[in-house]
Amino acid sequence: SFSQNRITLDIAKARDTINKNIYGHFAEHLGHCIYDGIYVGADNQKIPNRNGIRLDIVEALKKLKTPVLRWPGGCFADTYHWKDAIGPREKRKAIENFTWGGVREDNSFGTHEFLELCEMINAEPYLAINMGSGTVQEAMEWVQYVNHPNGTSHLTDLRQQNGRSKPWNVKYWGIGNESWDCGGNMTAAYYVNEYKKYATLATSYNNSEGLYRIAVGPGTEDYSWTETVMREVPLKRLEGLSIHHYSVINWSAKGSATGFSEDEYFSTMEQAWRMERMVKKNSEVMDKYDPSKKVGLVVDEWGGWYEVEKGTNPAFLYQQNSMRDAMIAGLTLNIFNNHCDRVRMANLAQTVNVLQSVVLTKEEKLVLTPTYHVMEMYNVHQDALLLPLTISSSNYELNGKKIQAVSASASKDRNGAIHISLVNMDAGKAQEISIDLGSAAVKTVSGRILQSAQLQDHNSFENPEKVKPAEFRKAALKGKELSVNLPAFSVVVLELK
Ligand code: AHR
Repeated sequence: SFSQNRITLDIAKARDTINKNIYGHFAEHLGHCIYDGIYVGADNQKIPNRNGIRLDIVEALKKLKTPVLRWPGGCFADTYHWKDAIGPREKRKAIENFTWGGVREDNSFGTHEFLELCEMINAEPYLAINMGSGTVQEAMEWVQYVNHPNGTSHLTDLRQQNGRSKPWNVKYWGIGNESWDCGGNMTAAYYVNEYKKYATLATSYNNSEGLYRIAVGPGTEDYSWTETVMREVPLKRLEGLSIHHYSVINWSAKGSATGFSEDEYFSTMEQAWRMERMVKKNSEVMDKYDPSKKVGLVVDEWGGWYEVEKGTNPAFLYQQNSMRDAMIAGLTLNIFNNHCDRVRMANLAQTVNVLQSVVLTKEEKLVLTPTYHVMEMYNVHQDALLLPLTISSSNYELNGKKIQAVSASASKDRNGAIHISLVNMDAGKAQEISIDLGSAAVKTVSGRILQSAQLQDHNSFENPEKVKPAEFRKAALKGKELSVNLPAFSVVVLELK
């Protein structure tokens, strides 16, 4: 059966650019994201690598047009001492990663390796400063070590000795992570005072280097935290405010990543839709203190979170990635695009082998997940002009509950091509959608779709291409009207020229 939906593009109101950083990623020292994921060891003869960094992952992340990568955490960041992980590898201090499973890490992947990875994939690095167990001095020295010109101090001398003479000029710096919980269990009032010390002393007094300093915001719908940060921190010391939101059904019963019911799927979609409200409500508070929208909302952790795969270390957060995750990604990215006046960056948690990954690895094998394909299909929106739209959508109803079934966003790229991304959350019904293109002069339509027979379908090491994009033919252009038949639980990106 079909339902009727209508979308109207308002091209005359187009004004904001979709910051490409909305398509960012997050890589933490957690499970096999870094070690035995991105980093396989510099003497690894079995898996092709450069200085230990896996080349097939580099290829995949480049193809995705990964714009920005956050590191080294997460909760891990608030225990991380960057000086333990520079210089000759054999002299680096091993640490216990007691945030994630108490495993030993030899620190062979450190600042140089991470920044080399970013150069290999053409992504901007985003470093998370240890506010929880570190010091202002340590943070200041990290900024100097990576950013200051040669000859300015023993820190830049040390950088040179360690093989890097040019500064990296890292722009994005997070100050603490989830400081209300794993980052130190602080109150908002306490956090802002700490934040101000870091934001003032790790840069020059007027931040003439132009660092983009990101403060910790809430990870729940606690808008009073946002209020405190926005009220107390002078705008000249703040460029970004981070929020986190995971689509988790229930923290004490998260359910399986692949063995889930339609009811669980529905709950996940409800949770994913909450992002819309969180973005709007945080923006409202920010508008009050920053009406010119100087400060960006940075959603630096988002994604689905389920029980770990059977037989894997519970602290490693390794989970499969199904069509359900593709739906989370399609919906969430549409939300970010539509709010790009305030949302300037987002980082999917996490890149490889952890939570909602884009890449899974097992020894020399690599799998691209359904989420990878959505991010790849959507990368046409990066740095494009947002075309505002209004949508009237039917509902997806299940067991007396309902959510909006269709989500959409649209943009126009530098060459004038229009892209519309559409998601049909409904697990049972296709959607007939008519799109009013308004003043757009359009002659042709083409598209790609991600769909599969079952919601639970995923890519495994045995069957790595079960879910992959295909050509989409169910869009027809009749003058200024586009009619689309969007299959149940599918993600489509249309290109209009
Ligand atoms: O992404 C996993 C963890 O989730 C991060 O370390 C933390 O910031 C959040 O609670």
